[in-house]
Amino acid sequence: MQRSTLTRFLIEQQRNADALPAELRLLIEIVARACKTISHSVAKGALGEVLGSLDSENVQGEVQKKLDVIANELLLEANEWGGHLAAMASEEMETIHRIPNRYPKGEYLLLFDPIDGSSNIDVGLSVGTIFSVLKAPEAVSGRDVTEEDFLQSGRAQVAAGYAIYGPQTLLVLTVGTGVYEFTLDREVGSWIMTDSAMTMPQGKCEFAINMSNRRQWSPAITRYIDERIEGTAGPCGKDYNMRWTASMVADVHRILKRGGIFMYPADSRVANKAKLRLMYEANPMSFLIEQAGGAATDGLTPLMDLAPNGLHQRVGVVLGDKAEVETVTAYARSMATATA
Ligand code: AHG
Ligand code: MN
Ligand code: MN
Repeated sequence: MQRSTLTRFLIEQQRNADALPAELRLLIEIVARACKTISHSVAKGALGEVLGSLDSENVQGEVQKKLDVIANELLLEANEWGGHLAAMASEEMETIHRIPNRYPKGEYLLLFDPIDGSSNIDVGLSVGTIFSVLKAPEAVSGRDVTEEDFLQSGRAQVAAGYAIYGPQTLLVLTVGTGVYEFTLDREVGSWIMTDSAMTMPQGKCEFAINMSNRRQWSPAITRYIDERIEGTAGPCGKDYNMRWTASMVADVHRILKRGGIFMYPADSRVANKAKLRLMYEANPMSFLIEQAGGAATDGLTPLMDLAPNGLHQRVGVVLGDKAEVETVTAYARSMATATA
């Protein structure tokens, strides 16, 4: 069987579906190329001296791993010169990275989490890169891009995706016309389409949550999980399975392929305390999940409807199986009414 490549897919999207301006196609190609290089570094592991931590912390106060910084630099360098971007933002950088004056500027904004699942780097488990693309507001022409220009809701994304560095290196992408998966053919160096128009299976009884955070959960999340743990004896009447890899890319990828629900709820005891980042993790994953027929909320509101209030804003995340996500929302609503 003749399989399509990423390049061919993008050209066909540009030609047929009219979904893709040429600049955006170039941007995606360059991000995908940078992910190949990151994949190469990740795969070298201890042999490439890329494992371990640095002395530095990122803006979120998290200790940076060597690979966080290497991947961040690779993405910046790869995307600076192409002329397709106005600016970039990364989980690993305090503020935005403007395109240097020596290069032409374009109309897109690129946001990324260079290495997602950093705690898995040193133990040889799957990590990934997550990215999101927005259009710069029209008003930026003739002036410097600012952080505020990035603060657009997830609905404004024109492309989103992730690379996952696991048993294979995969790229999963949406430009708003469905979700497509490509596998890196290392011998040839090409991304080959291995799954198209992906729809996530519904009705599967599997949840992903870090159970050790139970003390932080809201009553709605606690009720949802406790009922599932009760299995056939409980109100769901079904036994559920649980998985947690601590790499959002890997957990979300599993959910796209075989269904279930992923949750990293906010800490209900402290206002605005959550782990995952809206702009680099929640929004791109929500775009992919919704495109594949699932749902994504902060426990109540669709994530992509939120108006961001900061580049590094963190949010609760509940995504995957539509009916299960709706059950969480219904519990949150009814419990809010009960306490009102
Ligand atoms: P990052 O490595 O980019 O900081 O993201 C890690 C995130 C996400 O990938 C994962 O779902 C979650 O953190 C795991 O958190 P716990 O270690 O608290 O389970
Ligand atoms: Mn991450
Ligand atoms: Mn990260």
